[in-house]
Amino acid sequence: MEFSIKNGNPEKQRNACVIVGVFEHRKLSAAAVAIDEVSKGYLSSLMRRGDMDGKLGSTLLVHNVPGTLCDRVLLVGCGKEREFKEREYRKAVSASIKALDGTGASDVASFLAELPVKRRNLGWRVEQLVEIASEDSYRFNHPNCKKADEARSLSKLVVNVPQRNDLAQGDAALKRALAVAAGVELAKTLGNLPGNICTPTYLAEQAQQLAKDFSLQVEVLERADMEKLGMGSLLSVARGSRQPPKFIVLQYRKGKASQKPVVLIGKGITFDAGGISIKPSAEMDEMKFDMCGAASVLGTIKAVAQLELAINLVVIVPACENLPDGDANKPGDVVTSMSGQTIEVLNTDAEGRLILCDAMTYAERFEPEVVVDVATLTGACVIALGHHASGLFSNDDGLARDLLNAGEEAWDRAWHMPLWEDYQEQLKSNFADMANIGGRAAGSVTAACFLSRYAKKFDWAHLDIAGTAWNSGKHKGATGRPVPLLTHYLISRLS
Ligand code: BES
Ligand code: MN
Ligand code: ZN
Repeated sequence: MEFSIKNGNPEKQRNACVIVGVFEHRKLSAAAVAIDEVSKGYLSSLMRRGDMDGKLGSTLLVHNVPGTLCDRVLLVGCGKEREFKEREYRKAVSASIKALDGTGASDVASFLAELPVKRRNLGWRVEQLVEIASEDSYRFNHPNCKKADEARSLSKLVVNVPQRNDLAQGDAALKRALAVAAGVELAKTLGNLPGNICTPTYLAEQAQQLAKDFSLQVEVLERADMEKLGMGSLLSVARGSRQPPKFIVLQYRKGKASQKPVVLIGKGITFDAGGISIKPSAEMDEMKFDMCGAASVLGTIKAVAQLELAINLVVIVPACENLPDGDANKPGDVVTSMSGQTIEVLNTDAEGRLILCDAMTYAERFEPEVVVDVATLTGACVIALGHHASGLFSNDDGLARDLLNAGEEAWDRAWHMPLWEDYQEQLKSNFADMANIGGRAAGSVTAACFLSRYAKKFDWAHLDIAGTAWNSGKHKGATGRPVPLLTHYLISRLS
């Protein structure tokens, strides 16, 4: 879809459709009032007849409105004006895009970004609008399915801003939104690809393609390289699979040479059957999404490169499958991580931490300013927070605050979870430095505690995205989260 920022009057737009907001009960927004006036009260008369009350998310498409130059006007219900906040704004925008699906309207002008949202400026509203419109028009096409793309009518979206001198702010927001949307799209597509296509090798190829497209440095370590480095923990997971593991390192260096990089690490388990501690078969297909952390850090470096941010960023993706096999990890096995710490593998399904810990040790060589790992790490995080917030853990409160703020700004929110020393004892093992599980209580916390033992040399945060990386059920599919959060965090480091 093509986007642009414009300043104009709703009644003078020559588009196929003009989108305006309406509040409960029958309260017209400024743009709707303008159309109502030129049409001599046409919109108010429709509303009086009861066709549209302004209920949040409702829509009414009307044709040939007198006095206007556009083919259609789409009225979008925004709910009670007093209660119009971020969630309501996003819902109204999303409803407006969905309502146009399958109509003949291909170029539209939206006036929704002019609606005031408490505490949010025009830039925020424009960025959200563009991101939501891109997301709602995303369609996943399996590479081998030649089935014709569903009719996708919307191809041009003009976002209107209230004043001429808002144009610069609008353009800057648009640029940000397009970069975030590109990152989200990549993350969704990688996530949605089935496990037989999106293998560790495929992820490595995608990283190489990204490197080519944006002139990044790329390095892919093979099993033998990992053996030399002593990544015994990661390799113990990879042993259960016939797919060769890959350890992907991408570097983006547009900051000062003296500036230490941010390192992002994404869990890249391209399928998680659980290993010998095998998972139940119901919904096991969803474990193809176990590489969504990897997809999100690849999406983020793409967004950053598109924005040409003046920062140094390193992205690391440890990638392998977790399958049962004659050579796979067995409960009770003891493995030695690259850090030298030994791990008793009491449950082979707690494999994410086993590959992340070696990636964290590897990250030390970059002398990072901060390290953030992103992982679909625990079902327990879904029990704790559901599907709205990612779980955030950190050994540095300032870093935690920055990431929480970035999540608020991007509306891709995280929630701060405890990482207290008190939980560490749950990881005690009689046979190694630590066990890889900490019992049923606080499963997402003990997983983070495990990782914290590999983060002694830097400020570090961990995002558990098990509940936010994909949707189940009717709308099953990757969400692209937390690309918006991460991208905003990196943008915020500029100022
Ligand atoms: N990839 C899963 C976590 C997961 C499960 C994410 C369900 C989303 C939905 C992870 O590798 C895993 O299996 N974790 C175990 C850990 C347990 C054995 C301590 C879990 O959460 O059950
Ligand atoms: Mn697992
Ligand atoms: Zn997993």
